[in-house]
Amino acid sequence: MGSLLYVSCIISLLLQAGLASKTRHFKWEVGYMYASPDCEEKILLGINGQFPGPTIRAKAGDTIHVELKNALHTEGVVIHWHGIRQYGTPWADGTASISQCAINPEETYVYRFQVDKAGTYFYHGHYGMQRAAGLYGSLIVEVADGEEEPFHYDGEFNLLLSDWYHQSIYDQMVGLSSKPFRWIGEPQSLLINGRGQYNCSLAAHLMEGSSTCKLTSKDCAPVVLRVLPGKTYRLRVTSTTSLSSLNLAIGNHKMMVVEADGNYVEPFIVDDMDIYSGESYSVLINTDQNPSSNYWLSVGVRGRKPNTQPALAIINYQPNSPSKLPESSPPVTPEWNDYNHSKSFSRKILARQGTPKPPLYAEQKIALLNTQNKINGYIKWSINNVSLALPPTPYLGSMRYHLKNAFDPSKPPDNFPSDYDVMKPPKNPNSTQSSNAYVIQFNSTVDVILQNANALADNVSEIHPWHLHGHDFWVLGYGDERFEEKDASQFNLKNPPLRNTVVIFPYGWTAIRFVADNPGVWAFHCHIEPHLHMGMGVIFAEGVDHVRRIPKDAITCGMTAKKLMNNVLP
Ligand code: C2O
Ligand code: CU
Repeated sequence: MGSLLYVSCIISLLLQAGLASKTRHFKWEVGYMYASPDCEEKILLGINGQFPGPTIRAKAGDTIHVELKNALHTEGVVIHWHGIRQYGTPWADGTASISQCAINPEETYVYRFQVDKAGTYFYHGHYGMQRAAGLYGSLIVEVADGEEEPFHYDGEFNLLLSDWYHQSIYDQMVGLSSKPFRWIGEPQSLLINGRGQYNCSLAAHLMEGSSTCKLTSKDCAPVVLRVLPGKTYRLRVTSTTSLSSLNLAIGNHKMMVVEADGNYVEPFIVDDMDIYSGESYSVLINTDQNPSSNYWLSVGVRGRKPNTQPALAIINYQPNSPSKLPESSPPVTPEWNDYNHSKSFSRKILARQGTPKPPLYAEQKIALLNTQNKINGYIKWSINNVSLALPPTPYLGSMRYHLKNAFDPSKPPDNFPSDYDVMKPPKNPNSTQSSNAYVIQFNSTVDVILQNANALADNVSEIHPWHLHGHDFWVLGYGDERFEEKDASQFNLKNPPLRNTVVIFPYGWTAIRFVADNPGVWAFHCHIEPHLHMGMGVIFAEGVDHVRRIPKDAITCGMTAKKLMNNVLP
């Protein structure tokens, strides 16, 4: 009897361990497909014939295993898991030329990595401008079994926000690297979960007998969030826009912000929230308004003079019909250039109690000046006067195996001239291009000051959301104009939020701190797709000699090369 009890105890322990963390398997094929995300038919990048790509749902501690086949005819592909730190698996970060070779047509690459922290994440292409061609989807990590979120909710919705251009990414890329320069302009539409309506207001859509615009396809039907009155819902909101900074608001409802980039924040209540490309938030809403009405959720453009209709979704109180028009008009986005509004939102984001605190001192300081420049007359973005040009051989393998001539071995500058006037266009706009990388002492604490400046034209300074791979960082502070040494005394070391993306405001600076404890080679870049394409990023390498067992197909490109490498590498 006793031993039977013992055996059943063991079995239940084994079962628990088995339940506790799972490996989740996916088999994906990336290919071009026809779709009408905003009611205009185009081709875009889908996964298994789906756009946006399938949503991955997992629990903290799970392993994700994605077998990714490139079904494109003539170009490579990779997928980056945005916000997942890839501890111990730097080759699974999915950055072409950085962590791996682009996967050739007809070839397959296996991404296998652990999702160690609950939160709202996404994935996207990271080669050329493939993200802007529609290669993205959601990655949601729930708390591990037996754990609880530090807030209560009755149901949840996922809103993946993006912007959409009718011009192909090839057309866009050629324009960006032409003389004279051709800018991509503002997007044709904003999409919520891959759906939007080009050139016609959704409000008009829903009015019966309206002929101004027709739903030509179910791909562009408005998103409806069905809610019950008197409940609390969690909205997971992520932005993977190519260009636009966004603002989201819901008619009559306040939002409580509880999560940012997979980290809990001290809850605060707002009427509307800014979201920049690369960021994610969770907000809670209470369905405590008049239940006989529906309400608008609207998403508009911030930080650039908008030329794109807001995206709308319907909060549909049950049992109202979803086509019942809300009684009040959609909430209006704050003025596009009301930066004080945005700054005040950013400053409200603070770490929730219990969040790891930053080390008190940094061993290394890097100041990164963001400028718009020219190289041989071509317009580029540079960091400390270096515009990033990725090498053909991925850094991870070439650094690990000390290959010669794989990239520019020079040391990139970790500061910029003290007399540089950030309030004026560059006196000398000429810049340089390089593949050099910042080599950071393993396990050291690093401060980065991101310094914004005036672009090439007078009185223009843009928003840039900076995203770091392989880490979360603490946001220590924001300021206007040029960063001065004395500003460091104002850093928030008490409850700075942990994030993976942070914005620099026009003519301002942002200070972050991180610990270089993740062996690998990591991109740190502006998340605006055309800006990255024009060189707006840097490379951080740390502890690369500690990296073990890089899969051969991350280092080499092409099947034959892989076979050759089998004889060479340990
Ligand atoms: Cu979501 Cu390197 O980016
Ligand atoms: Cu930018």
